[in-house]
Amino acid sequence: ENARIKIDIDRQIGEINNNIYGNFVEHLGRCVYGGIYDPESPHSDENGIRTDVLEAAKGLNIPLTRYPGGNFVSNYHWKDGVGPKEERPARMELAWARLETNQFGTNEFIDYARQLGTEPYFAVNLGTGTIKEAQEWVEYCNVKEGPYYAELRKKHGYPEPHNIKYWSLGNEMDGFWQMGHLNAEDYSKKAREAAKLMRLTDPNIKLIAAGASNFRPNNDPHEWNATVLAELRDVVDYIALHMYVGNHEDNYYNFVSSPLVLEERTQVVKGMIQREMEKADRGDREPIYIAWDEYNIWYRWRQDETMTGERALEERYNLEDALVIAGFLNAFIRNADIVKMANMAQLVNVIAPIFAEKDGMFKQTIYYPLQLFANNMFGTALDVYVDCDTYDTDEFYLGLAEQATQQNDVPYLDVAVSYNDDEVVIAVINRHKDKAIATDIISQEGLFDGEFEVYEVNGPDIKAENDFDKTTVETVQKEAVKTKKAEQFTYQFPPHSFTML
Ligand code: AHR
Repeated sequence: ENARIKIDIDRQIGEINNNIYGNFVEHLGRCVYGGIYDPESPHSDENGIRTDVLEAAKGLNIPLTRYPGGNFVSNYHWKDGVGPKEERPARMELAWARLETNQFGTNEFIDYARQLGTEPYFAVNLGTGTIKEAQEWVEYCNVKEGPYYAELRKKHGYPEPHNIKYWSLGNEMDGFWQMGHLNAEDYSKKAREAAKLMRLTDPNIKLIAAGASNFRPNNDPHEWNATVLAELRDVVDYIALHMYVGNHEDNYYNFVSSPLVLEERTQVVKGMIQREMEKADRGDREPIYIAWDEYNIWYRWRQDETMTGERALEERYNLEDALVIAGFLNAFIRNADIVKMANMAQLVNVIAPIFAEKDGMFKQTIYYPLQLFANNMFGTALDVYVDCDTYDTDEFYLGLAEQATQQNDVPYLDVAVSYNDDEVVIAVINRHKDKAIATDIISQEGLFDGEFEVYEVNGPDIKAENDFDKTTVETVQKEAVKTKKAEQFTYQFPPHSFTML
């Protein structure tokens, strides 16, 4: 018997916010230096920008890019990175153990973002930084003229304000690893006062609170979220959540189910937000939304020596990783009413879809699903019904230091559907390692009429990887599916594949 996907355009979850296809650039390893910026590379322009990397990044149609960290930001003082380059101080970078030359900073990133066509999203330092420093950064970036820091920006060659709309109030402040880590009450106080000064400087900014990132077994992350949401419910626009998963035990079926845990966490935080919104006094502002502003697969480069220095977090990805990324993206779509931002961590070299050395670059497997979503899946997310075989996982760990999880009734087909301008886009992962799944795709309201273009990300086996000289996993356009006033059609999803119709 065939599997079934039932689509009803009247059953709507919410509007998909394109910011869920965001990305992230941190001063970490070779993401900035040797990644997007490398004056030494033959592929760089006169400003040191890697043009081949920029072109690849453009393919990801990135609406929003977070900068400059990550853990880095919690000891970053933005003034070190502006003004004449020869006068900028070199600093010890303590989060990831590098020398930070500050040759790339606020204005270089803005120039890059404009070239890339992405909206910048800045994180302020609430670790070792002060609320005054955060205010001054907003002034430098967003105030047209008059006060000292606005005039300083003009002196630095930028007569017009940068108008940075999105600002996060610190990074992973719940983590004991964070420089300047605080408890939830102290973080909330500092974040509230930083927000006050930042908004007095520019009332139009959107603020993102640091939600829980510490899912270690001895910790209750939702205590942090509860406090932060209660304390900042009138103040912030988003709560940021982070998630990294890995296949430590080399168990494919456990691993490809891990995006379902993201979905569970989304639901829990959604409930917590709803509870606070009943008590909130937000005027005509929208409710708080969730920003998954870091997500990815990260487990191979996790030892002390692979987490620091010039070459940190240089994870190489395979096909199963690409399926997990498609799973995260499907989960964002299925929760489009509450998840209004997400940022793959990170853009280049550091747990990234693009991998570069001085002489060349290649697109990793995880590039392809993100590219397909960011270029095609817009509009309204639909609540679809899926009927297919399922499996149960063992108990497993998403990350080595994480709480254990177990998933029952994991459907082999993972599905998300969008509807836009009379067009449906159907995203389907077949998690089955060996079996193709014949599926009836049924329209419950209106008829399918026209042609579905079909794109597939797949490879010879789940461990297939790309490299500088080989592209084993990529998007392949398949034969289109033609429909004519049809109530349904059947499609065969190949094993270990991601398909977008
Ligand atoms: O993206 C790598 C790191 O992961 C970020 O710096 C931090 O926020 C998270 O722990």
